[in-house]
Amino acid sequence: MRTRFVLSGVIAATMAATAVIGGVAQSGSAGARQMTFTEDVAPIIFNHCTSCHRPGEAAPFALLSYADVRPRGRSIALATRARQMPPWKAETGDFAFQGDRRLTDADIDVIARWVDAGMPQGDPAKLPPLPKFTDGWQLGEPDLVVRMPEGFAVPESGRDIYRNFVLPLNLQDDVWVKGVDFRPSARSVVHHSLFFLDATGAARQLDERDPLPGYNGGMGGGLALSRGRLGLAGRGGRGAAAAGVRGSSAGSTLGGWAPGAQPHLLPDDLAFFVPKGSDLVLSTHFHPSGKAESEASTVGLYFAKTAPTKTFTAIQLPPVFGFLAGLDIPAGENRYSISDSFEIPVDVKAFGVSAHAHYIGKTMTMKATLPDGETRTLLSIRDWDFGWQEQYLFSSYAALPAGTRLDVTVTYDNSAANRRNPSSPPKRVTWGEQSTDEMGSVTLQVVAARESDLPQLQQAVAVHLRDAALKSPIGALLLGARGGAGER
Ligand code: HEC
Repeated sequence: MRTRFVLSGVIAATMAATAVIGGVAQSGSAGARQMTFTEDVAPIIFNHCTSCHRPGEAAPFALLSYADVRPRGRSIALATRARQMPPWKAETGDFAFQGDRRLTDADIDVIARWVDAGMPQGDPAKLPPLPKFTDGWQLGEPDLVVRMPEGFAVPESGRDIYRNFVLPLNLQDDVWVKGVDFRPSARSVVHHSLFFLDATGAARQLDERDPLPGYNGGMGGGLALSRGRLGLAGRGGRGAAAAGVRGSSAGSTLGGWAPGAQPHLLPDDLAFFVPKGSDLVLSTHFHPSGKAESEASTVGLYFAKTAPTKTFTAIQLPPVFGFLAGLDIPAGENRYSISDSFEIPVDVKAFGVSAHAHYIGKTMTMKATLPDGETRTLLSIRDWDFGWQEQYLFSSYAALPAGTRLDVTVTYDNSAANRRNPSSPPKRVTWGEQSTDEMGSVTLQVVAARESDLPQLQQAVAVHLRDAALKSPIGALLLGARGGAGER
């Protein structure tokens, strides 16, 4: 009796297992039948790869047909299995992201099984049509289009180039900008571009001193940092935080562009403030492609019809891209980390999150601990890639009540085993603007749930920045040199 019971248990378990295995085999549309290109693989490639892998886009080869995909089948299986492709560094967290490009495990499995089966084409009549891709302005005709007046020559080979270009906007009035679209002329060499505003004329001066178009340096050639310094000198709550939002200082950001990134409008009536007389500074990273190119980028700006009713604030941890965090990574160290925490004083709604580091940055996390003790992951990147810096927008606002604590950790791998390490042998790395230096921060974009709470939020952000400066030898030095300008 007992034996029978055990046996039937085993049979039941086996049947259950078979059902599970069967379930896996049945997942997707294909069932037990052989995977074919036209029926199983083409829909995945067309929907997840072809937007970049087509002529005129960033990827180095097209994936538009069986003839394109077949010879690359093995590397496609590897790149998708490793989640290197499609590029999308954020792990799936507690809040869904707009335009999430990650493949499902089932999709990755379909590709692997098709490759294992010898990559059969299948019935050509079953090939789905290619999706319609919009060439040109993705958000419709912009309100203002500005163009680099002359091309910047990118040689066929050599080191990556970081170059800033100043584009006068010639605005007679202050405007509010809801979105920016960027169109490179030589996509194959433009790795990414960050957009800064300069209302001080500092960028123009740097440009004039350099005979070639633009001037050298990352991050607007220090504009982003001068923003940080302005923040340090800011008086009271309005200073630092308001500088970024109101865009009145050098180095306020308008976001950025990376290959494949979809341009977007800010949610609701949110907008960037762009004071009249501002110049747009494109901070562009070039990667020589084997063919000499000339880049003359075009930028389209989309204006808000009316001033926004809400102001958004960036909470960057640690502040100033980690400038004050004492980054000092010994050569060979593979587990270096910096972290920072911040308690949000008012109810906020987060709409976007982004991260920044250079080549040896490894992981980035931003976690929220809610007042009830529950934790939520806002961003988790396990395999940071300098080449794919995305502005991740949440599908809907992430509500974070007053008293929520944000914790950010950024880790670095400065060992020779890190294939992205730009220095061989590894060298000691400190904070700096060159790509062989490091930075590190995660930035959350929020609005106060009640606009009347905004000053309290900005005050807390400013105090956090000032405390970070006071704790850091370099920041204390700066504050000292300014005769206590950080004091109110
Ligand atoms: C957002 C744009 C984009 C999307 C989407 C994209 N790729 Fe790529 N892909 C690139 C770029 C750019 C490169 C060149 C290498 C690099 O910069 O990382 C590349 C390189 C590759 C490579 C060569 C990788 C290597 O290093 O050997 C493969 C294979 C590949 N892609 C397959 C795919 C597949 C399959 C998909 C869809 C599942 C896909 N890609 C989606 C942009 C994209």
